[in-house]
Amino acid sequence: MIDDPLTVRPEVNSEQVGRAQGIYASASQSEISFLMAFNLFFTEGKYNGSTLSILGRNSIFSGIREMPVVGGSGLFRFARGYAKAKTYMVNLKTNDAIVEYDVYVFHY
Ligand SMILES: *[C@@H]1O[C@H](CO)[C@@H](O)[C@H](O)[C@H]1NC(C)=O
Repeated sequence: MIDDPLTVRPEVNSEQVGRAQGIYASASQSEISFLMAFNLFFTEGKYNGSTLSILGRNSIFSGIREMPVVGGSGLFRFARGYAKAKTYMVNLKTNDAIVEYDVYVFHY
């Protein structure tokens, strides 16, 4: 299970605008690739309380991983789109990572 801070910039002390909450599981026998099922839960400004739901495949050692945005809630009702994830930093000693998500959605 994950409940990670969602920040504006990649720096650890950057302004937090939400949480990335959900699950991921190893789902490949030939490489390290995850099934991701998680919500971007926003906690600031006009999107406070709204969510975007992501369900997709994350081959974590690939440069850019595209995952579908399958829906949303609140101001993101009926959202459809995609996210592009890119690893910004990994610390294999502490198992910490910072990942940049560029998210593109249509919504009402
Ligand atoms: C976000 O919404 C929650 C629940 O309504 C509220 O408690 C909180 O104060 C809000 N946060 C901001 C920054 O507006």
